[in-house]
Amino acid sequence: MFLLNRGSIGLDIGSSYIKTVKLKEVKGSYELELFDVHPLPPELIVDGSIIDSLRLADALKEMIRNVKVSTKDAVISIAGHSSVIIKRISLPEMTEEELSESIKFEAEQYVPFDIEDVNLDFQIIGPKEEPGQMDVILVAVKKDIINEYISVVKEAGLNPIIVDIDSFALENMYGINYEDEPGRNVALLNIGASTINLSILKGGISVFTRDSSLGSNLHTEALQREFNVTHENAERLKRGEAVENVSPEDALSVIEAASDEILSEIIRSFDYYRSATLHEDISEVILSGGCALLQNFPGLISERSGIETRIAEPFRNIRIPKKFDLAYIQEMGSMMAVAVGLALRKQGDR
Ligand SMILES: Nc1ncnc2c1ncn2[C@@H]1O[C@H](COP(=O)(O)OP(=O)(O)OP(=O)(O)O)[C@@H](O)[C@H]1O
Ligand SMILES: [Mg+2]
Repeated sequence: MFLLNRGSIGLDIGSSYIKTVKLKEVKGSYELELFDVHPLPPELIVDGSIIDSLRLADALKEMIRNVKVSTKDAVISIAGHSSVIIKRISLPEMTEEELSESIKFEAEQYVPFDIEDVNLDFQIIGPKEEPGQMDVILVAVKKDIINEYISVVKEAGLNPIIVDIDSFALENMYGINYEDEPGRNVALLNIGASTINLSILKGGISVFTRDSSLGSNLHTEALQREFNVTHENAERLKRGEAVENVSPEDALSVIEAASDEILSEIIRSFDYYRSATLHEDISEVILSGGCALLQNFPGLISERSGIETRIAEPFRNIRIPKKFDLAYIQEMGSMMAVAVGLALRKQGDR
């Protein structure tokens, strides 16, 4: 009986934390079953590539021992920039089966890598205004990156059943927690230690994604440089703690200065989206990732972009049983956005 529908864990392997979530579906709604945040030593993953697979597998094993996972099935994900291409393209109308047959051929002109080196996937979004054409989201991921992640996860004793993309996981997290309004543009912005995932939804449907290799490491590095502190102490300063002779106030001004590059990148993407869509308005930013926990950061985004910015609440519509520390889960919530999205995936999904 227990072999049936055990569900799978959502395993978000970030460069600074492994985030694990498992959900249980109870009468059409969700209940939290597992929640874990496990820190990783710096430099195991750089630019989305696994540099030290042995130590990463060890960290995963340790996480598994600590949380006593009830299943080996895991849904993992990969971020964009160097190894993932996500493009919205226009193709002649055809069925899903037909496109499965011809995707390789169609994709060739959009993918800057050898087509034999990538795994391809697509989603048909629907017909375009022009008759006979349809919109398709094309996804190409370098096989060697997928294989790196799969082999580490297997090495740790887990069974990777789906390899997802960060921004799609964010969209799934959004889907169960927020209401869509037709025509309204919402920007899902996930900022981790070394990655920004941006996904803009219009009426709940993804219309734009962009990943960049910038993140809150910029804050950590600036603090280390400015105050000559260790990585650990810079992390404590980011959490608003005092360290050695450095006060949280001193840290804050360095943090704000280091935010500039991240903010400019975000504003550039918003501007690009607005110009590509002939000045569509973005109504709201839903901010997730560890960077959302940085004091003042959501305020800086709304100040610079002029767009109302809210911190994501991935557990908004998920029941949290009493055995969990609700305050901690709510506090860390924004970091878990991708993991929640992954935990929502089911075997057989595409
Ligand atoms: N309480 C906090 N206050 C401020 N910053 C925090 C806090 N908790 C975590 N962070 C920062 O958030 C970042 C980690 O966020 P997150 O877990 O989203 O990144 P990641 O998924 O590991 O990285 P990436 O996806 O970019 O590889 C780190 O830079 C960390 O310093
Ligand atoms: Mg991340």
